[in-house]
Amino acid sequence: MNDTETPHGAQPVVPKGFWAQLRAPIRALAPMEDVTDSVFRRIVASCGRPDVFFTEFTHVAHIVGRKKKSTAPRLVFTDEERPLVVQIWGRDPEQFFRATLKVREMGFDGIDINMGCPVKKIKKTGACSALIREPEHAVEIIHAVQEAAGETPVSVKTRIGFDRVVTEDWIGALLRRKFAALTVHGRIASQLSEGEADWAEIARAARIRDEVSPETLVIGNGDVMTAREIPARCRKYGIDGVMVGRAIFGDPFFFDTRGRSGRFSSAQPEEKLALLERHIALHREVWNGRRNYEVLKRFYKVYLTGFDDAAKLRDRLNRTFTYAEAEAVLAEYRSASGLGGDDRERDGKT
Ligand SMILES: Cc1cc2nc3c(=O)[nH]c(=O)nc-3n(C[C@H](O)[C@H](O)[C@H](O)COP(=O)(O)O)c2cc1C
Repeated sequence: MNDTETPHGAQPVVPKGFWAQLRAPIRALAPMEDVTDSVFRRIVASCGRPDVFFTEFTHVAHIVGRKKKSTAPRLVFTDEERPLVVQIWGRDPEQFFRATLKVREMGFDGIDINMGCPVKKIKKTGACSALIREPEHAVEIIHAVQEAAGETPVSVKTRIGFDRVVTEDWIGALLRRKFAALTVHGRIASQLSEGEADWAEIARAARIRDEVSPETLVIGNGDVMTAREIPARCRKYGIDGVMVGRAIFGDPFFFDTRGRSGRFSSAQPEEKLALLERHIALHREVWNGRRNYEVLKRFYKVYLTGFDDAAKLRDRLNRTFTYAEAEAVLAEYRSASGLGGDDRERDGKT
């Protein structure tokens, strides 16, 4: 008998895997397309680890079908990024089933189903947030993933509604299927990222969980800007953890617990430059043409801010087309501003 079977026809136990080891307040780094790739996850892990990482979302058809090659970089990871949950999306339960078998084989620590993405062309396919209008179909998808996942824990990330708030019905319907963890972003899909996340609705989702599936962890998401507020939010809203997305853009040390969280904006330019250089070097080493150089530009804003000339330097980097050009711009800046590697060695500062 394996762990999911119980004697006497009792309710099967929900596989929880690594989630069972985490204690509230759980701190999760949000999945973000073209942001939380393996390279950035490693950078974040080195600055301050969250309790759990998620991959960018990946379409189930591409995991099992013809676009396997272009999809592969999304599924790259190292042990530094564990526990790591792979996020998948789509419409067809059969494809979910087959994709789950694949990602399970790859050794991810968990499998998350995206039921929240509000992007128009994605909604049109009936996937992600569009599933909020079809709870029965959504439940069928969860069932298919659970069937294929075996002992790998399954989770869902969603919103509180599609074009109106329907927390009670939607979250209730999902949780009756019972799974390891549920992330609730406190906005409806038509809001995109506008307005404020509604944490009262997140608290409502947690109360529904208490009744329908007490063993499911509930993670709140939306507009959390400092690490300090996470424990209080968990207590106030009755949730097990918080997922953080955009705040990492302002502070790669967000999850650090040794006093560096919240201080990156006032860090020395040297520290910011060094982290950017590491990011560029790792991007080149890991992707080397498999991902577009352009996606790296999003990060220039993360590191180059809050010091004289930061905007000018960013502008120059935004006009580069290769890793080598970016490295040359940074080397020139270092030497012109007295932060150069050679100068530092000569001055005995290294
Ligand atoms: C650039 C970007 C890409 C995103 N990509 C994904 C994604 O692939 N999967 C997903 O579930 N959510 C995605 N999101 C939504 C975030 O995971 C998160 O729910 C949202 O940013 C709200 O959290 P925050 O207020 O902490 O940023 C993305 C958000 C941003 C800003």
